Amino acid sequence: MTKKITIAIDGFSSTGKSTIAKLLANKYNYVYVDTGAMYRAVTLFAKLNGYVTKDTFNKEALINDLTSISLSFHFNEKIGFSEMYLNNRNVEQQIRTLEVSQLVSKVAEISEVRKKLVLEQQFMGKDGGVVMDGRDIGTVVFPNADLKLFMTASADKRATRRYKELIDRGDKVTFEDVLFNVEERDRIDSTREDSPLTKAKDAITFDNSDMGIKEQFDRICSLVDQKLSML
Ligand code: DC
Repeated sequence: MTKKITIAIDGFSSTGKSTIAKLLANKYNYVYVDTGAMYRAVTLFAKLNGYVTKDTFNKEALINDLTSISLSFHFNEKIGFSEMYLNNRNVEQQIRTLEVSQLVSKVAEISEVRKKLVLEQQFMGKDGGVVMDGRDIGTVVFPNADLKLFMTASADKRATRRYKELIDRGDKVTFEDVLFNVEERDRIDSTREDSPLTKAKDAITFDNSDMGIKEQFDRICSLVDQKLSML
C-alpha cells in the first residue's frame, strides 16, 4: 500500500495556500480540502437567509439553523479540482465575492460554526492522504499532521493578487477595498477567541512575498518527500 501523510497548510488570507495545496494534491494524488470554502459557504447561507449583513448579525438564528446546512465538495473534471456545494447547489462562484469575504470572519468567529466544520474536516481527513488548508488546521483540526506549513506574505502583495483575481472574474472592486478586507480579516482571524490563526510550534514558515509558485512548490515537495521517506 502507498504510504500517505496528512499535510496541514495554514496562513493569512490570499497567501496562495490553495494554489500550493491543489498542486500538492495533484502530484501526490491526495484529497484537497479547502476549509475556507466551507466557512464561506456557511456565510453565504447566513447572508441568503438574512441572518448577516454588513451592519447586523443574528447569531442565534444562524446557530439554530446550522442543522439545515449540508456542505460537500464535488470534483469538476474540466477544471481539475473540487467545487463547493451548499445544500446540493454549486456555490463556488458566489462564495468568492468580496461581499462574502467581508462577512466571513464574523461568521467564522462563532464556536458552534467552528465545531460543526472542524468535525466534518476531521472526518474528511481521517484516513490521511489529505492536503487541507485554512487557519487552524495544524493547531486544531489535525494537531498531529505529518507536515505543517505556515504561509505568509506582505498585505500589499496579497491584496494585489486578490484584486487581480476579482478583476479577472469581472467583479467591480477597488484595490483599497480589497486591501482593507485582507487586513481586516487578518485582524479578526488572528484575534478571535476560538481557534485564532496562529502558527503551530512545529509548522514551517513560508514567506512568499518574493517567491514564485515554482520555487515554493519545489521546496515543499522536498519536505513532503522527506516525510514520506521516513514512514
Ligand atoms: O481561506 P479563505 O480566505 O477562503 O477563508 C475565508 C475565511 O474563513 C477566513 O477569513 C477565515 C475563515 N477560516 C477560518 O476561520 N478557519 C479556517 N480553517 C479556514 C477559514
